[in-house]
Amino acid sequence: MIIEVKNEDETKTLGFSIGMALKGGEVIEMLGDVGTGKTTLVKGIAVGLGIDEYIQSPSFTINRVYVGRDDIKLSHYDFYRLDDAGIMADELGEEVSDPKVVTVIEWAGVVEGVLPTDRLSILITSPSETARKFEITSGGETSRKLEGKINQ
Ligand SMILES: Nc1ncnc2c1ncn2[C@@H]1O[C@H](COP(=O)(O)OP(=O)(O)OP(=O)(O)O)[C@@H](O)[C@H]1O
Ligand SMILES: [Mg+2]
Repeated sequence: MIIEVKNEDETKTLGFSIGMALKGGEVIEMLGDVGTGKTTLVKGIAVGLGIDEYIQSPSFTINRVYVGRDDIKLSHYDFYRLDDAGIMADELGEEVSDPKVVTVIEWAGVVEGVLPTDRLSILITSPSETARKFEITSGGETSRKLEGKINQ
């Protein structure tokens, strides 16, 4: 599906709709250039998961974990500064099969090999300074269900 928004608030609203639909166990990969709004979308997802902590870009720490409603954990990765995911890849491989964890990854290139094909991929492009286009695809049953619940 393709969703277009006009401003940052609408990106957060889209994230909120995704966050509300999460049950745990989903994997979401975010693709798109620097500054397209990957972290902004995660902020909305966090609100939809009932997380009131401030979501900081994990660019330097690589990973941050937050606990939301129904004991669902949001594990947010950013591999932008990593050339070789090494041991992180093993950890990530275990985590993506945990039904209580929602894994969201920015710059997933280095860990592509350990990600399940059943993941929601969100490609973000920026047609103008504040407009964003989200191309959402799913690779299996769980992600397809999630995609079906996203409100446009
Ligand atoms: N519609 C929009 N949606 C999201 N962000 C927007 C939008 N319009 C403008 N922006 C601005 O674009 C920037 C998006 O930053 P954000 O950190 O979310 O991007 P990112 O894709 O995570 O970047 P990076 O690759 O560096 O992690 C913010 O400065 C935000 O204010
Ligand atoms: Mg970011």
